Amino acid sequence: MSKTLFVCQNCGAEHRKWMGQCPDCLAWNSIAEEVPAEMPHGAGGKAEPLAPDAITAIDSQAAPRQSSGIDELDRVLGGGIVPGSAVLLGGEPGIGKSTLLLQAAARFAAHGPVLYVTGEESAQQVRMRGERIDALHAGLQLAAGTELEGILATAAKLKPGLLIVDSIQTTTTNRLTSAPGTVAQVRDCASALIRQAKKMGHALILIGHVTKDGSIAGPRVLEHMVDAVLYFEGDHGYAHRILRAVKNRFGPAGEIGVFEMSDAGLIGIRDASRIFLAERAKDTPGSVVLACLEGTRPLLVEVQALVAPTVYATPKRSAVGLDPARVAMLTAVLERRIGIPLSSQDIYVNVAGGARIQEPAADLAVLLAVISAYRDKPLASDIAVFGEVGLTGEVRPVGQPEARVREAASLGFSRVMMSRDNQARVQDADLVAKMRRSSKTVVDCIPVHRLADAVQAGLA
Ligand code: TYD
Ligand code: MG
Repeated sequence: MSKTLFVCQNCGAEHRKWMGQCPDCLAWNSIAEEVPAEMPHGAGGKAEPLAPDAITAIDSQAAPRQSSGIDELDRVLGGGIVPGSAVLLGGEPGIGKSTLLLQAAARFAAHGPVLYVTGEESAQQVRMRGERIDALHAGLQLAAGTELEGILATAAKLKPGLLIVDSIQTTTTNRLTSAPGTVAQVRDCASALIRQAKKMGHALILIGHVTKDGSIAGPRVLEHMVDAVLYFEGDHGYAHRILRAVKNRFGPAGEIGVFEMSDAGLIGIRDASRIFLAERAKDTPGSVVLACLEGTRPLLVEVQALVAPTVYATPKRSAVGLDPARVAMLTAVLERRIGIPLSSQDIYVNVAGGARIQEPAADLAVLLAVISAYRDKPLASDIAVFGEVGLTGEVRPVGQPEARVREAASLGFSRVMMSRDNQARVQDADLVAKMRRSSKTVVDCIPVHRLADAVQAGLA
């Protein structure tokens, strides 16, 4: 007997009746009626016992990773694709997911067959794109199709090293009557593909679309089913794109790769800091260079602030590329600890170039940018900064100061402002002496204990 279920297309929660708002994720108009699939095994059937092994007796030889042929993608994956793993690549339509994976597929095909299933474009369209971006290789098999059972059978016959499904939203199983892209379809198809990938030992990459408001079913419900979740992001206004690992069972999460979209497809960018600082106007009030860390990768970005008298009853606080709540908290610290009257000022903070910074190490840069804008006084352009700022106005240490200092030095900055503890650590690492010996740019550390010290050192 099949009963209808009402499934939230946003978070996948199941409900007994239709509602206007999902009580789980609070999304409006997201609940749709679905007919659940028949249970594949008779409920209550006899189960085979598992075969446990002592943890010490289990083979720890990690399967060798295979390079995707694209350095930036390999880095985000934690060093390459793990055979038998399932990866979800999410992102807004048009951001470049198909382009990236077609490029990777062609390179990967050099050492094993690849099956690329396209459910959105015709095989001709993909071939034409492949010609344009130099992604043609005879080991890359292209199939246009959307039916899950057909995809599984093809993969079983072809035994590829890598299967790419573009996209999971267009894939449907004939076991379900619900429309393509619904939670039930997406979840069912993904789990069948993942199960077969694990069984056959080939890597699987699923492409999933998300819209700005996350309203299309898919990626969100898939996140816990796959081994790694990568998001491809970027503003359509900029040519560069950031690939970010938000989950990775085989490597560090938070790792990023930077690409530029060109006429010939995506190009990996090794020195990403240069891109993010390219348009920087030196000696301009409200501009501060932040040495941040994205995953294990140091990155220099420009934090910009604009402070202007408000015309509203409540002053405006706006943050692009940073957490608005954190920026609001920091401006409160400014008022209270430095005594800058900001209650009649609108404050806009922006990370130039469309980068998104999540780490608290950005605090000091944000605060200095706001003070610099308010006082209309530039921070010296050879200074890069990093550091977390607490509610009492203390500057706190952050992770990996050495990597940040090294990156700043390689971009020609001669002074780096940081917390005292971080400075001690950089000193212990003997970094400055090492730089001097290798005749690189020598960096002076400016240690600061409190926000007031930072203002004194940079903006007095
Ligand atoms: P696509 O990979 O189709 O995006 P997705 O699969 O995420 O929907 O990328 C589409 C966009 O990329 C499109 O706007 C055109 C642009 N593009 C280039 O600028 N250069 C190229 O070489 C290619 C293939 C695409
Ligand atoms: Mg596409």
